[in-house]
Amino acid sequence: MKKYLFFILALGAVFMFVSCNQKPVKTIADLKEGIKGETTASAKYAAFAQKAREEGNDTIAKLFDAASKAETIHAANHTKVLEKLGEKMEPFTPQFEVKTTAENLQASIDGETYEETTMYPGFMKDAEAENVPDAVKSFTWARDTEMKHASFYKNALAALQAGDESMLPSGYEVCPVCGNTYEEGNVDEKCAFCQTSRDSFEKI
Ligand SMILES: [Fe+2]
Ligand SMILES: [Fe+2]
Repeated sequence: MKKYLFFILALGAVFMFVSCNQKPVKTIADLKEGIKGETTASAKYAAFAQKAREEGNDTIAKLFDAASKAETIHAANHTKVLEKLGEKMEPFTPQFEVKTTAENLQASIDGETYEETTMYPGFMKDAEAENVPDAVKSFTWARDTEMKHASFYKNALAALQAGDESMLPSGYEVCPVCGNTYEEGNVDEKCAFCQTSRDSFEKI
């Protein structure tokens, strides 16, 4: 009887050891894909901002600059989580195309909508199943921000099509902790996602 008890306890200890040391493989792959997506989006939006300025759309350029800043913050947050899990991001070169500002806005709406409705919800599910709360938080901040970006880009495209940039806000503010992006004139005193004070928001 004693022998069996010892065997069961030993088996339990081995199981605990294996499960505690198991890497959250899906979450790690998702973090890497997220870092790649956010880094690419940041570089792409910076190039789109330059193109918008060349076309005389300075207000739309500000939106691209603000979103570019936000995506850098998302990439940095995902990287922190990845490194905490003992992993490193492989080097890569962002790939994107710069077209007209109207086309760039449509591509941005499509990209943000995919991230908001498909990519991040899937990542959040994986991170919840693998019990990585830091990743759930980082993915949620990005998902909630991309939702706002998609809506800002839709407004910008409508303004461009109407030939009236005065419909758009004069600038944007970005939370340095979570990337939450606000339209000037509609800014919370504390970030609605992470509670950071407005004093530290970056004005664009
Ligand atoms: Fe975004
Ligand atoms: Fe925030």
